[in-house]
Amino acid sequence: MRHAFLLYALTIFSLCEVKKCQYLTKTFIDFINKNQSSWRAGKFFLENVTSRNFVHRYHRPVLNVGNEVRVKDCYLEDLHIPDSFDARKEWPHCADVIGNIRDQGSCSSCWAFSSTGVMTDRLCIQSEGEVKFQFSPQDILSCCENCSNSTYGCAVGGSSDRAWRYWTESGIVSGGDYDSYQGCVFYQESEFYLKTKSPCMKSCNNPHYKISYAEDKHFGSDYYQVKPAEKCIQAEIMSNGPVEAIFALYEDFYYYKDGVYTYTIGGLVSAHTVKIIGWGVENGNPYWLAANSWNCNWGQLKGFFKIRRGVDECGIEQHVLAGTARLKTKTSSSSPWLLVALVSAGIVIAVMAIALFVKKKSMESVINYFRLKS
Ligand SMILES: *[C@@H]1O[C@H](CO)[C@@H](O)[C@H](O)[C@H]1NC(C)=O
Ligand SMILES: *[C@@H]1O[C@H](CO)[C@@H](O)[C@H](O)[C@H]1NC(C)=O
Ligand SMILES: *[C@@H]1O[C@H](CO)[C@@H](O)[C@H](O)[C@H]1NC(C)=O
Ligand SMILES: *[C@@H]1O[C@H](CO)[C@@H](O)[C@H](O)[C@H]1NC(C)=O
Repeated sequence: MRHAFLLYALTIFSLCEVKKCQYLTKTFIDFINKNQSSWRAGKFFLENVTSRNFVHRYHRPVLNVGNEVRVKDCYLEDLHIPDSFDARKEWPHCADVIGNIRDQGSCSSCWAFSSTGVMTDRLCIQSEGEVKFQFSPQDILSCCENCSNSTYGCAVGGSSDRAWRYWTESGIVSGGDYDSYQGCVFYQESEFYLKTKSPCMKSCNNPHYKISYAEDKHFGSDYYQVKPAEKCIQAEIMSNGPVEAIFALYEDFYYYKDGVYTYTIGGLVSAHTVKIIGWGVENGNPYWLAANSWNCNWGQLKGFFKIRRGVDECGIEQHVLAGTARLKTKTSSSSPWLLVALVSAGIVIAVMAIALFVKKKSMESVINYFRLKS
């Protein structure tokens, strides 16, 4: 409850100054590794990550806009929850989508990355691997006015609740990583490096993309908060795919290397949102398996991390969000074919019936015919 209080009550978070953290690095790592054995700390990122890159991963708080999303009912009867679960294994045709680690750069856009990440996974799962459409974090960052406060641009985060609502009401186009030239609106340099927010252009920034901005919009049909209970979150992931979770980000989290994270030392930096894709148990410690959006060079699990499960670690089980994608109906193309098929089947049946009827009547004449021929 302490963490939940922090998540919702704090609007001004302490900020982790870069110099302070660099100074603390060695002391921090040693302390974490001596104080507990659940997880190991190490240097932030790869050895050769420049200080410029280092700064990019710093966050400012997620905008506090309260609880706006209805809580979905949770039924657990007859449900066997396994000891471990990995959405990539459950839905192998979407494993590449679910396992995709992204990079939010210098912008406080974790909320845009984790929400679109879950939307992307769920559209793939619902379409049984047919639709691999990567929703664009840049599109909601720039175009969802209600998701964040444009006065602050990238410096203050945004609201995941509003992002999910925007998905159902306005739709979101496709868009890949920074400089990827993938999808309609790929992540832009101003966000990735400069911490400033790009204006909403309502058009694709990728000149090579063939579909128009309006046509590229994909919608959600529903969104909800998952009941804040371990088993309900597990049931939701097992049934429908990954979920988005918000938790209190403390300084020690940056130093995560591997193992099951549990808050050990350091000040509160901000709230952070991630994508939970499964769970398991490591050395007796139950954990959630989650995808971060700090590139795959963060930590030793290639951008993933494990965090203690079942005890609401850093508030991670408090505000879990998910939704249902609206599959683009194929009525215009599929129903004429269905009609053609039905009509054809009808004609065949009619012809056969007539043939049978005629056959009986004219059996003799047919026999006579062959008799004449042979
Ligand atoms: C870990 O650190 C806390 C806070 O300083 C201390 O109370 C606790 O005894 C430490 N535990 C171990 C195993 O070092
Ligand atoms: C620096 O890291 C990149 C991966 O981001 C790697 O490809 C490269 O070889 C590294 N360079 C050195 C000098 O270690
Ligand atoms: C933004 O929020 C305001 C106030 O809650 C609401 O009236 C408006 O419809 C919202 N706009 C969109 C595009 O959702
Ligand atoms: C954005 O922040 C400014 C300054 O704190 C505030 O006056 C304004 O009401 C905020 N806008 C929204 C939409 O929350």
